[in-house]
Amino acid sequence: MDRDRIVALDKQRVWHPYTPMDRYRAEVDPIVVARAEGPYLWDVDGSRLIDANSSWWVASLGHNHPRLVQALKDQADRNCHSALAGMTHQPASELAERLCAVAPDGLEHVFYSDDGSTAVEVALKVTLQYWAQAGQTKRKHFVALQEAFHGETLGVTAIGGVDVFRAPFKGAVLENFFVPTPTQAGGLEPAVDALRSVLDAHGDELSAVVVEPVVQGASGMQMYDPAYLREVRELCDRHDVFLVFDEVFTGYGRTGPMWAADHAGVLPDILCTAKGFSGGMLPMAATLVTPRLFEGFLGDADRAFYYGHSFCGNPLGSAIAVEVLKVYEEEHILDRAKPKAERIGEAFRALEALPAVARTRNRGMIGALDLAGDDGYLAQAGWRIYDEARRRGAYLRPMGNVVYVAPPLNIDDDVLVELLGIVADSIEAVS
Ligand SMILES: Cc1ncc(COP(=O)(O)O)c(C=O)c1O
Repeated sequence: MDRDRIVALDKQRVWHPYTPMDRYRAEVDPIVVARAEGPYLWDVDGSRLIDANSSWWVASLGHNHPRLVQALKDQADRNCHSALAGMTHQPASELAERLCAVAPDGLEHVFYSDDGSTAVEVALKVTLQYWAQAGQTKRKHFVALQEAFHGETLGVTAIGGVDVFRAPFKGAVLENFFVPTPTQAGGLEPAVDALRSVLDAHGDELSAVVVEPVVQGASGMQMYDPAYLREVRELCDRHDVFLVFDEVFTGYGRTGPMWAADHAGVLPDILCTAKGFSGGMLPMAATLVTPRLFEGFLGDADRAFYYGHSFCGNPLGSAIAVEVLKVYEEEHILDRAKPKAERIGEAFRALEALPAVARTRNRGMIGALDLAGDDGYLAQAGWRIYDEARRRGAYLRPMGNVVYVAPPLNIDDDVLVELLGIVADSIEAVS
């Protein structure tokens, strides 16, 4: 099929995510990916682009890592899929063991699902059912952070704080409490005070506090002081409210250490992982819980967690996820990413000198900047940078007026230098 035909069929039939479709159909010449390898995407027309956001933050080891592809092929020869109800298989068992070994100490049981949204959905349902079974039937609400993003199911939409994603469903989703991060509150103390007052007033109605630890990705790479996580832990303990870390984006070294929780040395009651968890190759997620939560579902049969997805614990995804953990360990991915992260930090700080740039920030393998002027998720300025970057050889999808990079953790230094140069040149070009 030639490129024009692919695009024509796409525009006729495919409804794209997060996309105003009329503008897309009228104006956009989409990238038509023929092949992906390492940090690169190749268009059908032969042009090559550096994937600056690891395809929505999933390809943490780059595209088509040969060891992951081999693990996929080997497993496909044995068993592509079998259910996880009353049966098991080696990849699911081995993965759970390896995952608990690298997770913060104290998370000992693994529930598999399909993607980041379902990993958090599981966390919400687990805490709600736990409290119902513990006889605390008032505990039906959650505390989330302002500007939070936890995915797209209706359940997690209820703890989402980004207005453009939540507004259409207002009234149809549970009402919860939203508190500011230290960055949004203007400091650690006012943020802790805000949370404390919600917990003091409503502690016995709360099921859990849910946070994206340290970096709020989808609201524009907003970052906050990790010390806040220790304060949240202490307040949750005081009120016996569960603490959920959504590490769907921040896990697997994106912010530096394996988990953002490690910045603060905090153990959550539940940790959600997806995206880089399966090397960005297949939809796969896990929700890790403490023995206390797990044991709350033991006893009579009606206390079990009657929840599951057809593909949970999929053998292909599990086999890849096992190999991902081996690659992290054997290729020293986190250590080798450190100097790359520093390079990203230096490059973004230097961009602050440009008049088009209002402010910059970085943590681990994330560099982000706010463009001056137009604000918010629907701002158009970022798309002008996108066009410039594409001309120069990078896929640099913005979030409103936020331009950012979150490349594979193992991106070669020379490719990273090229990418950071493209970011700077693209911004200068529109200044
Ligand atoms: C922190 C966080 N949680 C959950 C999700 C939802 O993940 P998925 O798109 O795989 O459902 C995302 C997606 O970006 C995310 O950033």
